[in-house]
Amino acid sequence: MATMPMTKLLETLPRPSRLTIAALALALAVAPALAQSAQPPRKPAGPWMNKTLSPDQRADLVIKALTLDEKISLLHANGWEMGGPETLPLRALGNAGFIAGIPRFGIPDLQMADATVGVTHSSVFGRYSTPLPSTIAEASSWDVDLAREYGSLIGRELRDQGYTMTLGGGVDLTREPRNGRNFEYHGEDPVLAGTMTGAEMKALQEQHIIGDLKHYAMNDQESGRSFVNVKVGKRAMRESDLLGFEIALKGSGAGAVMCSYNLVNGDYACENDYLLNQALKKDFGFQGFVISDWGATHSTAKAANAGLDLEMPEADYFGEALKKAVESGEVPVSRLDNMAHRILRSEFAVGLFDNPPDRRVPDVFHGLEVAERVAEQTIVLLKNANGQLPLAASNIHSIAIIGSHADVGVLSGGGSGQVDPIGGNAIPWAVSNGQVWHRSSPLKAIRAKAPGAKVAYDPGTDTNAAAALAKASDVAIVFVNQPTGEGDDVRSLSLPDQQDALVSAVAAANPHTIVVIESGGAITMPWIDKVSAVLEAWYPGTRGAEALAGILFGDVNPSAKLPVTFAKSEADLPHPVEMLQPPPRQGEEVPMFPGAPWKVNTRRFDIEYDEGLLVGYKWYDAKNKQPLFPFGYGLSYTTYSYSGLKASSAQVTFDVKNTGKRAGAEIAEVYATLPLAAGEPFQRLVAFKKIALEPGESKSVTLDLNPHYLSIFNEDKNGWELVAGEYTVEVGGSSRDLPLRGTFRTGD
Ligand code: BGC
Repeated sequence: MATMPMTKLLETLPRPSRLTIAALALALAVAPALAQSAQPPRKPAGPWMNKTLSPDQRADLVIKALTLDEKISLLHANGWEMGGPETLPLRALGNAGFIAGIPRFGIPDLQMADATVGVTHSSVFGRYSTPLPSTIAEASSWDVDLAREYGSLIGRELRDQGYTMTLGGGVDLTREPRNGRNFEYHGEDPVLAGTMTGAEMKALQEQHIIGDLKHYAMNDQESGRSFVNVKVGKRAMRESDLLGFEIALKGSGAGAVMCSYNLVNGDYACENDYLLNQALKKDFGFQGFVISDWGATHSTAKAANAGLDLEMPEADYFGEALKKAVESGEVPVSRLDNMAHRILRSEFAVGLFDNPPDRRVPDVFHGLEVAERVAEQTIVLLKNANGQLPLAASNIHSIAIIGSHADVGVLSGGGSGQVDPIGGNAIPWAVSNGQVWHRSSPLKAIRAKAPGAKVAYDPGTDTNAAAALAKASDVAIVFVNQPTGEGDDVRSLSLPDQQDALVSAVAAANPHTIVVIESGGAITMPWIDKVSAVLEAWYPGTRGAEALAGILFGDVNPSAKLPVTFAKSEADLPHPVEMLQPPPRQGEEVPMFPGAPWKVNTRRFDIEYDEGLLVGYKWYDAKNKQPLFPFGYGLSYTTYSYSGLKASSAQVTFDVKNTGKRAGAEIAEVYATLPLAAGEPFQRLVAFKKIALEPGESKSVTLDLNPHYLSIFNEDKNGWELVAGEYTVEVGGSSRDLPLRGTFRTGD
């Protein structure tokens, strides 16, 4: 598509503008078709419509009826929105991907939308979708029911718009805290990330939408993502990032897995036999299809035989080239059939044949209500000195709100995980630096909670002016932000634009300074000792400000806990300096986003994830480093106590009591340290549960221990092994606050 003028124009623009322009043009081009119907006319067809047969039996019956060309037509796309609207068939709804079905067999169109934190690109078509808090926030709830609600809402809104497949489901671990896409993932622990993503995707698929897990695998940084070769050991992979995928897959039965741009141990992820055939399909038992990330296919026979089933977003390798490879025997017919089978099977399994999309007006009120509830359950209280929070509106005469456009909005993450802001960007594009701000105003929400107080706003651009307002106010609330997005990593965990200096100046002027952080992941806080309270709000979505005000004024008792470690400084990270790509050679074009250049770019470089399976807190625990805030940490307006641990290899039982005066919900975390013979002398999360407790109430909690989560991956045997010996189990409210300790033995 590189030769097309539209594409060339688009490639010169930042991604949000490209998408907007492309989508606008597309809307004009396809409007007449959309006005009629987004779906092909369907004829009731064939024996595969017998619902008593299994998805596999039904898929096989379809395969028997298809010609070679028809099978191949299911295995690649024919254009995408960023390739220019002229590349798209008329039935395409105009999001990230489209594959035409075959109406005479009832095979549905695959209408794919990016939908990590809500359905993207709605506004240009005059549609609505809810911008939810980011998935790193969702993970902070540690609440499986909330994850289900999150997935269910996205699934419903996809279906309302006529889509049949999501491209969400980010489960790469936060191995590199500067990764620009951490906000789209579910934190640094495989059990937490896998469980939450699994619950989300299961609920999404119940809406008759094909679920997706991405980006498989080891796509843990954006720098050089199209050509970086990740070097990492098998055991380390299987016990970290791949375990997250495995758990998410088993919890959801997701119909698709998206292979990533990068190479892993010498082979591109989308033609990596170990990742696709051996681990994913054989060991995890994945029965759905592998879809390439956009432009991540690099070969025909090698990719097909290594396990890639579907090329996106064009047909460079899986169109005519695949036909030739099948005819010449390079790709066996049985493999071709299996590729088509996997796609059809996923379509049958989620009910796409039996329940074609039924477009309708989305339930906006429900969406907003879910967005606010999710935000309330996902904002983490990190510091609360002297009971600074919650604020008592009746005692406060003046509040200073400072920084981060808090008069009008809250920040969104960028790239394909960005949902269009309802009503448009809260900040004029000309001054937004390409960032999107949802129209959820902290200033207004705080004013509504403190109607008797004078609530004034200062943009924070002039430190002295901000400090002066803070000094003249009873309380100062400073909003700070760290924008992140697809295609780029942050160069540093420090806040950009002198915001650290702003916080320090405000804190020096007012002893009641509260900091609210809007970020996609961890940041450093050189001012932590100077402020009285800190809230991590992540990118909190379209009702973020309302949820935040509820927490600030105590209508909501915070319960969320960190799904990632916050380091004191970058010096404590496994790689203090990010393993960036080498500088471009003179005259060389280095794509930030995939586009035509991915096809010609041959430069590769290695990064060695030599921390291996020591991802996140495991690194800090093994190296005896004190983090700023540990994994699993988060405060509440009440307190909890733990007692009475009984542990066996099958389950743990303990009591949790609310020892304070407010109702709350405690996330109880269970960690295990394996016998010495396992060679892993550090703890790992093995179970967790969120428990609602009235003041003074105590509950007995029993959690099953999954032997898989207690095992190590034995490379020689290519399997999981429960090492015999003594296991230590610790239970408490954070990875660094575990008051209960017990042991059990296995295998003696
Ligand atoms: C991203 C994927 C996304 C796809 C389609 C790629 O650049 O890495 O996450 O689903 O584009 O927009």
